[in-house]
Amino acid sequence: MNYEQILKEYNNIKAKGKKLDMSRGKPSPEQLGTMSRLLTAVIRNDECFSETGTDCRNYGGLDGINEMKRLFGEILNVPMEQVIVGGNSSLNLMYDTVARAMFHGVADDCKPWGKYEQISFLCPVPGYDRHFAICEFFGINMINVPLLDEGPDMDIVEKLVAEDDTIKGIWCVPKYSNPSGITYSPEVVERFAKLKPAAKDFRVFWDNAYVLHHLTETPDYLADIFAEAKKYDNEDLFIEFMSTSKITYSGAGISCMASSPRNIARFLEELKFQTIGHDKLNQLRHSRIFRNLEDVKEHMKVHQSILQPKFQLLYRVFDKELSEVEGVHWTKPNGGYFIAMTLPKGCAKRVVQLAKDAGLVLTGAGAPFPYGKDPDDNILRIAPSYPSLNELAEAAPLLCYCIKLAILENEQNAQK
Ligand SMILES: Cc1ncc(COP(=O)(O)O)c(C=O)c1O
Repeated sequence: MNYEQILKEYNNIKAKGKKLDMSRGKPSPEQLGTMSRLLTAVIRNDECFSETGTDCRNYGGLDGINEMKRLFGEILNVPMEQVIVGGNSSLNLMYDTVARAMFHGVADDCKPWGKYEQISFLCPVPGYDRHFAICEFFGINMINVPLLDEGPDMDIVEKLVAEDDTIKGIWCVPKYSNPSGITYSPEVVERFAKLKPAAKDFRVFWDNAYVLHHLTETPDYLADIFAEAKKYDNEDLFIEFMSTSKITYSGAGISCMASSPRNIARFLEELKFQTIGHDKLNQLRHSRIFRNLEDVKEHMKVHQSILQPKFQLLYRVFDKELSEVEGVHWTKPNGGYFIAMTLPKGCAKRVVQLAKDAGLVLTGAGAPFPYGKDPDDNILRIAPSYPSLNELAEAAPLLCYCIKLAILENEQNAQK
């Protein structure tokens, strides 16, 4: 198709005035609907007690009920003593962890991060916009590090953390990363485990948001960070996060953080100023539904069965429409919630604008980069989870027209 034909198709779709949204990686109503048993998992007064007899309706239980600590411990392969159960959002735990580090530091013999003139975080890119937003909010400088197929470029990570003691942290989504879907290789995990940062108060934010979120029958393998770090006596470096946001309810799930015994003791000392305890009734409901890891894995197959066809639909359309288009590539991850699409340089913003004008909302171009700035303006984050299959079937060809138009416009502009 030439430019005029593509423009005509695009305008035809635009004229239909559709409203489609592929902007955020939210579970669909269908996915949320698979969890109705959670709503009624605890209904009577005499059901409100944890296995140790704690009345979950009352105050207390800063680190969570045993059932939930054990379940998260099983999922993350750490002893339950190294787990703190939080509220409904792991992002909230990450934010609070950064906030406490800014005011109180991360270890007894280190000054608060906020007392430095400037500190920096390493940000593997493309990455998760809300991680970067936390840094921006606290005035933490962000340094881009390329995220390669096997994980962050570890030559760069090792060099930077070894030579600059004002680098205090790094954001990692080690499994099915948001948005490229890659999983860190065992070698990358090992290099993290033996990292020797110049800063004694450097911390790795290991956000394992997609730990069980497979999309295919060939899931990726992620080596166990705490087992690896233990070999190098380096456990204090790592703080791992996850939640049931995309297992049960994204607005009413349960989050957790796991770390070394020393860090956990410190976090609990500090947390008691923030809360008397999180929502234990919701923890109890979750633990009644999921007695162990196997129960969770069973449920994740239901999510997979809903999500897999959505990803496959997009691949079919992209393969048909875009495989011949030079400079366009997309990921086909084994899990997670996103596809990352690479375009020729300078096209991403224009694609998002063209899509918006035709009623399709995409994630903002630049969102997967610190400060919202994609240096090459060529990465799109595509989130297939929320729309229905019918909506996706409409959105996918429109997206392809937008991509082709933006590329042709770009070429025309270059010739001027
Ligand atoms: C990598 C990553 N971490 C964290 C979150 C949010 O987690 P939560 O709902 O537990 O706050 C998301 C949501 O999309 C995510 O992609």
